[in-house]
Amino acid sequence: MASQLVVLKEAAQETRVAASPEACGKYIALGLSVVVQAGAGLHSNFSDTDYETAGASVVADIAGALSGADIVLGVRPPDAALVGQMKKGAALIATLEPYQNGAIKDYAASGVQALAMEWMPRITRAQSMDVLSSQSNLAGYKSVLDATSEYSRALPMMMTAAGTIPAARVFVMGAGVAGLQAVATAKRLGAIVTATDVRRAAAEQVESLGGTFVMVAQDEDDSGETEGGYAKEMSEDYKKRQAALVAEHIAKQDIVICTALIPGRPAPRLVNTAMVESMKAGSVIVDLAAEQGGNCELAKANEIVVHNGVRIIAHSNTAGRLAGNASALYARNLYNFIAAFWNEESAAFTPDWDDEILQGIGLTRDGQVVHTTLLKQD
Ligand code: NAI
Repeated sequence: MASQLVVLKEAAQETRVAASPEACGKYIALGLSVVVQAGAGLHSNFSDTDYETAGASVVADIAGALSGADIVLGVRPPDAALVGQMKKGAALIATLEPYQNGAIKDYAASGVQALAMEWMPRITRAQSMDVLSSQSNLAGYKSVLDATSEYSRALPMMMTAAGTIPAARVFVMGAGVAGLQAVATAKRLGAIVTATDVRRAAAEQVESLGGTFVMVAQDEDDSGETEGGYAKEMSEDYKKRQAALVAEHIAKQDIVICTALIPGRPAPRLVNTAMVESMKAGSVIVDLAAEQGGNCELAKANEIVVHNGVRIIAHSNTAGRLAGNASALYARNLYNFIAAFWNEESAAFTPDWDDEILQGIGLTRDGQVVHTTLLKQD
């Protein structure tokens, strides 16, 4: 009998889905039989009929399919009770929020192989499986559109018979994947764009997109990043100098896009109330770090806070606001991962736990939590 793959319908607040009809067609071509929970693709505009046309079966009650599934795909971490219905040894592939998710031990107890896609190593071989990049890129783009729709002025300089409209000033804090896409998008819309980051390597990337890099002087030998290429927590002295620089710069900005994150830690607080109060009425801040606590201290997840005329937007799932694209790219990331560990002879998904990729994303196996980072936390 063919190996079976199940695609879960997400909880109400999540708009994305873990497999597009296109991805389902590719899984079937690999040799899998695919079962999709009814309505799973609704918010991404993939109908049940689209999945059926791709060759999947659609079922309203997923319980029966779960117990026979070899692979279960999701976007957000599923409830432990649902995972408890999976058979031992089956693979659960989703973003599992390992740092915040209290159910990982329950996943282990269920005997499943829980694989957290957001811990995919940032290596060349795994770029096509990198869900953080595919989703952050869309979030960075959408953050600028969200800002412009709340901003009561135009972004490009316009010379009209009635007078000249000055270009808006956009400041992007954190120049990783989301931040760089925000720089590119704001530039395309005609804004004057500056960006900052603690990683020295980001300067060149910002400048290549036409932005101006603004940065605190670092110690000679400090690149601002870890071996994995992520930002590290900076010293207290650095934070003070950064706050002074930001305070001076932010007062002149019309739009601020906050994207700064440090893996496994709360988002760095970069914009305080005094800084918000220094901005002109009508200015807009978009805080993409809201789910990790926010870069702006006045941001409230899923609200638009208005403070002294400055609007602070903090959607908690910005990529999900472009659900069609976000789902399609996320689905391809998952497909690329499964295809990389697909054994054609046995027509089965056979993850190699000695591989760097599995060591990065594998959380539970054989009834145990096995990821070294999670074991260290205990
Ligand atoms: P992220 O989402 O973890 O953080 C966003 C940005 O915030 C980062 O650029 C980070 O340096 C910056 N940041 C953190 N603390 C800050 C602070 N206090 N002030 C200002 N900025 C701060 O990062 P993301 O977007 O996931 O990228 C992390 C790194 O991984 C980057 O170097 C990126 O180029 C690299 N990368 C490599 C890939 C690959 O080789 N396959 C794929 C994607 C990203």
